[in-house]
Amino acid sequence: MSRFNYPIFSFLVLFSVLFFNCKKNTVSTKDTTFAKADSILSLMTLDEKIGQLNQLSGYEELTGNIANEDGQLSRTEMIKKGMIGSFLNVIGAEKTYQVQKLAVEESRLGIPLIFGYDVVHGFQTMFPVPLAMAASWDAEVVKSASSVAATETAAAGVHWTFAPMVDVSRDARWGRAMEGFGEDTYLTSKMAYAAVKGFQGDDLSSRTTIASCAKHFAAYGFIESGREYNSVSIDDATLHDVVFPPFKACVDAGIATFMNAFNTVNGVPATGSAFLQRDILKGEWNFDGFVLSDWASIGEIVTHGAAKDKKEAAKIAIKAGCDMDMQSISYSNHLKELVNEGLVEEALIDDAVRRILNVKLQLGLFDDPYKYCNVDFEKQVIGSQDHKNVARDAARKSIVLLKNTDNILPLSKTSKIAVIGPFGNDTDSPLGSWRAQAKTNSAVSIYEGIKNKSINPEDVSFAKGCDLTVDGTHFIYHLKFNTKDKSGFGKAVKTASKADVVLLAIGENAFESGEGRSKTDIKLKGLQEELLDEILKVNKNVVVLLSNGRAMDISELSKKVPGLLVTWQLGSESGNAIADVVFGDYNPSAKLPISFPRNIGQVPVYYNTLSTGRPVQEGGNVFYSHYTDSEKTPLYPFGYGLSYTSFEYSDLKVSTQGKGADVKITVSCTVSNTGNLDGEEVVQLYINDPVASRSRPVKELKGFKKVLIAKGASETIQFELSAQDLAFWTLNNKKEMEPGLFHVYVGPNSQTGLTDTFEVSK
Ligand code: BGC
Repeated sequence: MSRFNYPIFSFLVLFSVLFFNCKKNTVSTKDTTFAKADSILSLMTLDEKIGQLNQLSGYEELTGNIANEDGQLSRTEMIKKGMIGSFLNVIGAEKTYQVQKLAVEESRLGIPLIFGYDVVHGFQTMFPVPLAMAASWDAEVVKSASSVAATETAAAGVHWTFAPMVDVSRDARWGRAMEGFGEDTYLTSKMAYAAVKGFQGDDLSSRTTIASCAKHFAAYGFIESGREYNSVSIDDATLHDVVFPPFKACVDAGIATFMNAFNTVNGVPATGSAFLQRDILKGEWNFDGFVLSDWASIGEIVTHGAAKDKKEAAKIAIKAGCDMDMQSISYSNHLKELVNEGLVEEALIDDAVRRILNVKLQLGLFDDPYKYCNVDFEKQVIGSQDHKNVARDAARKSIVLLKNTDNILPLSKTSKIAVIGPFGNDTDSPLGSWRAQAKTNSAVSIYEGIKNKSINPEDVSFAKGCDLTVDGTHFIYHLKFNTKDKSGFGKAVKTASKADVVLLAIGENAFESGEGRSKTDIKLKGLQEELLDEILKVNKNVVVLLSNGRAMDISELSKKVPGLLVTWQLGSESGNAIADVVFGDYNPSAKLPISFPRNIGQVPVYYNTLSTGRPVQEGGNVFYSHYTDSEKTPLYPFGYGLSYTSFEYSDLKVSTQGKGADVKITVSCTVSNTGNLDGEEVVQLYINDPVASRSRPVKELKGFKKVLIAKGASETIQFELSAQDLAFWTLNNKKEMEPGLFHVYVGPNSQTGLTDTFEVSK
């Protein structure tokens, strides 16, 4: 099907023979691929090099024209001329084959394209949104979900995902909170590492792994007032202590690529920031993959007011270390001129090309550019039952039990159950916001899942009660909510009145969160709260199943109902996973990866705040840090989540060995399962450095362990801490540990637990 004697391949064969003969056993795979990249580079013209830095979207037909300095060129022509190095949104074994063939067989050097796509929480088999998976506090969940997603993506001819998003965010208004792993840097780092390992595996050239991309570098989660694409003002300590660690974890995991961000960081567009991309990422962290811009973000340096035109933007971005241009065509239109005018050194372009070629080499694209384009393999693996099983397991492990008065849950499989609410029989919203190639309406609904498990399915009834929206789902950005039509209330009330228990499925539609979905109101929209009140008049046994992609204001409803489960957008197997938890076939073990605020006015509210100078009331006056109309604590704190059993913590022991940078701290405690069911507990360890050169957070997560404890049994849980865990961005502008006294806390969430102190000497 292909001709393999085109120039690059013959050259590579010759090169490999020579290289291996003289350097046998002395070089790593990466050294080899970099050496090959250098050799290819030496064959390239400046135009061809610049072509490698150009990524375009395949939304339009390949024959569609694209504005170029030389006039309007079709994409096909551009590929043949070596003017494109990568596509995003070209999907499918057949389609990618056709496009790859143009590059490989009709361009002068035949350099293969790399195809990228946003596979954020699944390709066709959908997993819980990342925020939900973070609630599992189980890195294996994220790793296996990413691995399945990689298998399906690779089978569809795509080599590269733009995930994981590892932006720590404390702001429930920001729609993209659903895409990250929550408010904490430690938890996010663990999940980020696992995601990269899941996507990339041990060998990028395998047919079931893909390159991964850490995004958005950096600080996008700190946009002012949670408003999408807004600016970021951030202090150095927060940048180094909170924002950077998850990105560093991705580098440690061997990630192939990074994406920069739309936002400015302290006035400098991240896409044009040499501090972020050259000093930190490629300098301090020694990252040898390549950096991709965000969608048209090189061009947006102009709208930020930091460049006069795209030519200047291109100069700023390439100098700052942004290697590939997604969709702004600034590089392809201006870099050659910039080099010829002596404004950009060709060496910078060489470095970027070398990095890109190296990833292509690692993916094995030079050995077989069509290896991911196998239609039979595509049919065989995508959406398989095995993948669905992984998705179901991930989903049930992500469900958080927030309230369970008088053990209303778990339900008996013989109960008469009324499933009520706009999400009760919804097969679409559970697929989430970044749903890639999921088939519309392909999720298992709650009603279906409950019926599947019930002993008497005829005793399970459904009534929608109300529609949430009157206009717009999917990609309609401004949803219009239903505030008038109560015509479904009658049936819902009647259905509820006949049941033993009501499962009330309310919350947010998948497209209320995600990119471009910031909010100033995080309460239930439309008639949902009213529907709840009407149901409660006829049946008090209500369990709310909250559908959400962010922390919501559920202050009112959580007072009213005895049962409350956070069910997020859980993916393809949503209804089955919810049924597993509702009937107790799976004992909930998840914990919140974000604080749930009492109201929008508190936002951002997060557990690891600084103390302030006046943390508590003294002398009965108002002059302390608080609100006069609301508590300052969140409604449900970070790390909170219940189980159908109960756990007790005792016997905290702390010991230190060594001193200064060599100190080792061992912390242990006993956790006992005092209830009537086996259950998993996420044991959390926090520290506080009470006296330091810079004010330190009241608590910081530094360890967690998820353990299964049989009913009546006890387990000893042990943690090890090192100086690195105690280090922070000090006044010396570096990360170091300041010896002295530390507090340690071990418990079931960020607010309660056992506490002790330890001392680290110099
Ligand atoms: C988003 C990125 C995404 C890219 C490509 C942008 O709008 O910010 O996260 O990877 O589009 O779809």
